[in-house]
Amino acid sequence: MSGTRPGGIRLGVNIDHVATVRNARGGAHPDPLDAALAAVAAGADGITLHLREDRRHIRDDDVARIRDALGVPVNLEMAATDEMVRIALRYLPHAACIVPERRAEVTTEGGLDAAGQAGALRPRIAALRAAGIRVSLFIDPDPAQIRAAADLGAPVVELHTGAYAEGRADELERLREGAALAASLGLEVHAGHGLSYDNVCPVAAIPAVAELNIGHFLIGQAILDGLSNVVSRMKALIGAAR
Ligand code: PXP
Repeated sequence: MSGTRPGGIRLGVNIDHVATVRNARGGAHPDPLDAALAAVAAGADGITLHLREDRRHIRDDDVARIRDALGVPVNLEMAATDEMVRIALRYLPHAACIVPERRAEVTTEGGLDAAGQAGALRPRIAALRAAGIRVSLFIDPDPAQIRAAADLGAPVVELHTGAYAEGRADELERLREGAALAASLGLEVHAGHGLSYDNVCPVAAIPAVAELNIGHFLIGQAILDGLSNVVSRMKALIGAAR
């Protein structure tokens, strides 16, 4: 995502869990593309989607459809595998966020080991960048990882806010210091994971943070905020049928 006014902060909306609900019945409803369009209409600055190796939510055709239909940047979260790099080069999202991925995990647990996996990451980052894709690395706010990301040529880091969201002591300070270090190295700073109405403001207030990516809370809250409307409509429909 790009183009927000100086000093502003962008919101990327992750629509993976609309696909989770869709896939529960194997049909086409609810369509994550419709959710993406609704999020954009409400002001989302970009749409984020994670194509997992096991395709548990977003599928390849979702990436293609959402990439083609949206007027805002699409950020593809992906593992640093040859398969995912091939897919990114085929669909050419605006951005790719490289995340660690383990098949058994419920969500992305912990950041990428940019320092330890430099050999595998470097050529993949270079291939994505050569195709014009803005690459970010999803890392913990750890100075060694931030320095490794800069050394690998990634222009963006996304700082993992999961530990902060779990309320671990000192995590907000680690995020603040990590964001300042990354910015001082010339990196654009994003943040995300586990953010909600209750905990987002201190992270959004960190001056170097240019973008937040939020998914699970927004999709969950959308169900709670939207349920009364859809129940009313269904009651009206079935009542009118009699
Ligand atoms: N950023 C990255 C890189 C992620 O992997 C995720 C989870 O898919 C998020 C942000 C959003 O996390 P949450 O769904 O908890 O808001």
